This record gives sequence, structure tokens and C-alpha cells, in this order.
Amino acid sequence: MEERIREEASYLVSAFQANDGRPFDPFMVLTNAVSNVICSIMFGDRFEYSDSSFQRMIYLLKELAELETKPITQLYKIFPWLMKVPGPHQKLFSIQHTYLNFLRDIIQKHRDTWDPAVRRDFIDAFFEEIEKNKDNPGSSFTEETLLIVIADLFVAGSDTTSNTLRWSLLMMLLHPHIQKKVHEEIDLVIGSDRLPTIEDHSKMPYTSAVIHEVQRYGNILPMALLHMTYRNTNIQGFDIPKGTTIIPNLTSVLKDKRNWKKPFQFYPEHFLDSEGQFVKNEAFMPFSAGRRMCVGEQLARIDLFIFFTSLLQRFEFHIPDDQPYPRHESVFTFNYSPHPFQVCCRER
Ligand code: HEM
Repeated sequence: MEERIREEASYLVSAFQANDGRPFDPFMVLTNAVSNVICSIMFGDRFEYSDSSFQRMIYLLKELAELETKPITQLYKIFPWLMKVPGPHQKLFSIQHTYLNFLRDIIQKHRDTWDPAVRRDFIDAFFEEIEKNKDNPGSSFTEETLLIVIADLFVAGSDTTSNTLRWSLLMMLLHPHIQKKVHEEIDLVIGSDRLPTIEDHSKMPYTSAVIHEVQRYGNILPMALLHMTYRNTNIQGFDIPKGTTIIPNLTSVLKDKRNWKKPFQFYPEHFLDSEGQFVKNEAFMPFSAGRRMCVGEQLARIDLFIFFTSLLQRFEFHIPDDQPYPRHESVFTFNYSPHPFQVCCRER
């Protein structure tokens, strides 16, 4: 995967370059780049940054996340039988429908060109499993499951990492002295003649601390995902019956003042010892914990390191002169993301 991510990082750098020092909102291009990594695993293909139908899909998914957290949608969840009236909650279904149709098309194109002797990507691998299990009526390898699995992976693998990368650029804008230190470490370890590789990671404690701090501070999935107990259980003296919905509270650890010196500030030193070496902290759990923790953690970590260092290797980021000072607090729409902001990049 690393090769694929490095290749995508080169496209991303060119797209930033194309702005020629003018201010731009990095939302779309970062989301497109990160989505391309997961798309190449699942569909064996990437989408050009100029592909308007793909951009529309990205906007629709953003709108979907916003709609999901609107009060009217919450009402729908509580009184579904009362909410047959038109309203934003209905738009949510129409977006879901468009999204699933977009993926159905991709699956169909794969079906039409499928050669069982050549495995191009995740969809082909899933087709093989469907084929192997076709005489087993209880099998969950069906085209319907495939659709939902890729729908899940696409959202889980794009929005999270691109949101974190936006946080990282915002933090560089707001803390130029930290950006300068990252530049210095990149110059020392990687230089400017080659692209970053994941092997550089262990030699770059400061950059690593910055990326960890971006994840801790950004706290993008403050309530992880909902879970349900599958049997009666007891945690620290509390009885929790089977079938109880559980909402993990990741903020309670990521912003816990017993674990972090400055829980509400951006402070990379949370991950550095007095010698400047990287130190782990067991309260760092943006990917949650336990059996159902994020399955994409490894991929996300590689994405974050390669994309972030590739951008910082080539550019110095600053707040555009004619723009308001970016806000450091987050917007909540299912996840925490930064307020939209504009950035200027100057080639180094
Ligand atoms: C910075 C990036 C990411 C963060 C912070 C993140 C965080 C999380 C969190 C907190 C959960 C919930 C775990 C729980 O409920 O206990 C989760 C679940 C999940 N993540 Fe990620 N994630 C990231 C990137 C990715 C990527 C790149 C993929 C794609 C491969 C991915 C796929 C998933 C899936 C499929 C689940 C559901 C796992 C399950 O229910 O078993 N994530 N992620």
C-alpha cells in the first residue's frame, strides 16, 4: 500500500502546487486524495481530482453526515412512524440511495469484466468468496453484503483520515513555530530529493509527536461507534445487561487532565521526553480500543505520515492575508472537524 500512497501523495503535491500561492480550501482535494487510497484497494482505480461526479459524491457524503446529526433526524429515529412527512430526514435516504447506486454501478462493471483467474482488487476477492459459497444458503458472502461492506469501508476510510489531515494543516497555520520544527526535521532526515517513506517515521520523533497530537487534539470520533453488549456483563462493579447500547466516550481519555499536561491545547510535547524522543501514552486512543477498534488503523497511520510529510516537505503553509483568522474549535457533525478554512502554500 505504501507505494500507492506515495504515488497519490505526488498527485496531491501537484494539486497544491497548481494553486500557485493563491488561497484555497483544502477540503476537496485532501478528501479526494485519501479516498483514492481506499478506492484503489476496493475498486482497483483512482478518481482524478477534476472528476465532478466523484466530487459530487464527496459533497453528498458530507451532507449526509450533517443531516445525521440534525435534531429532525434524531426525532425520526425516535418516532419513525410519525416522520413520513417530507423534510431533511427524507433527503438523508435519497443521498443514501444515490451513494449505494454509485457503488452498485462499480460492482456491476466489475461483474461484467470479471475474470476469476485475475484478482484485481477487493471486489474481485469478494466475488471469489461468493462463488465458493454459492451452495451454502447461510453464507454472508452475497452481493448485498459486498455493497454494504464497501459502502462502510469507503466512508470509514476517507472521511476520518482526510479530516485528520485538515486538522494537521490547520495546526500548522495556527502554530508556525511548530511547522518550522517539522520542516527542520524533514530537511534533516529526508531532505528534498526523494519522497518520504514509512521507514523515515522512526527517525522523526518530532513529526511523529505532531501527528499524534493532531489526532489527540482533533479527537475526530469523540464517541467512536455505537456498540451493544451480546451478553450480561459487569464492568468495575456496574452490571450491564445483554442488549445494552454502549457509547464509548473517547474524549474522556483524549482530553483527560490526569494524562495530559495541557489537555485542551495543541502541545506536541505530550509525546516527547526531555531528550526530544518520542514517548507513547496509553491514553492515546483515537482508534478506540478492544476487539472492535478501528480496522484501518495501520492504513490510516501510513496515510497520515506519508501525506503530511510529503506536503510539509514541499510547502510552507500560511494564513492568506485577506482571510479571517481560522478558528481552532471544532464543528460537530457525527465527527469533530475543523471549521472550513483557506490556506496558502509557498514552495520551499
Ligand atoms: C485517522 C483515521 C482514523 C480514525 C481516527 C479512525 C477511528 C475509528 C474509530 C474510533 C472507530 C470505532 C471503534 C469502536 O467503535 O470501538 C473506527 C472503526 C472503524 N474504522 Fe476507523 N479510523 C480511521 C481510519 C480508518 C480507515 C483508513 C479505515 C479503512 C480501512 C477505517 C475503517 C474502519 C472500520 C471498518 C471500522 C468499524 C470496525 C468494526 O466495527 O469492527 N478507519 N475507526
